[in-house]
Amino acid sequence: MSTYAKGLEGVVAAETQMSWIDGVNGVLEYVGINIDALAQNSTFEETVYLLWNKKLPTRAELDAFTKELRQHYSISAGIVESIRKIPKTAEPMHVLRTLISELAFYDADPNANDVASARKKAINILGQAPTLVAAYDRIRRGLDPIAPNTEFGFSQNFLYMLNGEKPTDTMARAFDICMITHADHGLNNSTFAARVVISTLSDVYSALTAAVGSLRGPLHGGANEGVMKMLNEIPSIDDVEKYVMDKLATKSKIMGFGHRVYKAKDPRANELQKLAQQLAKDTGNEALFEKSKKIEEIMAREVGAKGIYPNVDFYSATTYHCIGLKLDLFTPMFAMSRLGGWSGHIIEQLSDNRLFRPKAEFVGEHNVPYVAINDRK
Ligand code: CMC
Repeated sequence: MSTYAKGLEGVVAAETQMSWIDGVNGVLEYVGINIDALAQNSTFEETVYLLWNKKLPTRAELDAFTKELRQHYSISAGIVESIRKIPKTAEPMHVLRTLISELAFYDADPNANDVASARKKAINILGQAPTLVAAYDRIRRGLDPIAPNTEFGFSQNFLYMLNGEKPTDTMARAFDICMITHADHGLNNSTFAARVVISTLSDVYSALTAAVGSLRGPLHGGANEGVMKMLNEIPSIDDVEKYVMDKLATKSKIMGFGHRVYKAKDPRANELQKLAQQLAKDTGNEALFEKSKKIEEIMAREVGAKGIYPNVDFYSATTYHCIGLKLDLFTPMFAMSRLGGWSGHIIEQLSDNRLFRPKAEFVGEHNVPYVAINDRK
């Protein structure tokens, strides 16, 4: 009766109304709306509202949602104190994972799992996540954290808290497009992790903590940092050909390429490529963008026939670099955005829950005699 699918490839394990992916033609929709339309016209707040409510908000609904989110920007003094005690060498993804877990200590009813409570926790965590990341980054640089500004939107406020000055509209908008494009993506590994944990009726904090842990892997969200490391390793555009060919010859993965679902170019990569090109020009990082384009060309020539094309992480690396973010903040940016998607999935799972419990095929031995400890070799 059972079939084994390594890596659960092709297995449908949940229902969702949030995102839809056509991997053959490279199409992504959130609640039926094409990602390009959202990237061009929407805001991150509007996108999260869409994912959670399965409809675009009216002006009044968006205002109310935005106001509610802004009320959660601040973090408690206890959390700030805790951040100050974190070793300055800690990776921001480890920090974010730990702090999301720690937020449960400040929730009077952390285990409440009805849908209304889960939604309240989700907006609370989403509102605080940028503040946590910015506060840690400033403290590790020997600076004081900057209090959030509730006059600012999600993206503008994050860049303000990180840098201590209001970002330009162009930078804030570019960052917001990154947030929109990363917000949800079907049953990807971290979303699955969140749904698996909440399906035990554990709690929202545990589910999101697990999701952050999953996301940091280099095969998943951690790939954006891998892309930047690769771009830094390649001295100039003239070295790209040899670098890529050597990697492919040794069967090494080129970060930011390939996808379990897409066999065409990831539509998010198209949006982010446009953004990366513009920002690279604006910030004098054209060489970085040109190196990326060259990698893409060689990969299309060499492995395009196998359906290996740029994914979301490929051009997000150049985009984040041009926005001025440090390398180890790239994956936390993905997490800040994906908290919107993870939370929506947690709510969907709680609304129609069944425990995830697949089986493993046993491939070991049977009838092995028990050997007393003194007789073992
Ligand atoms: N570079 C070179 N070859 C690749 C790549 C790549 N990036 N990705 C896949 N392949 C090859 C792989 O070597 C294998 O070849 P062969 O059949 O000859 O052995 C074939 O394609 C299938 O690869 P796979 O690893 O079995 O495919 P998968 O569906 O298990 O993996 C993936 C998908 C995303 C893990 C993989 O493409 C990969 O490791 N990419 C690099 C890491 C990366 O960019 N991850 C971000 C994914 S998108 C955003 C996100 O989800 O966070």
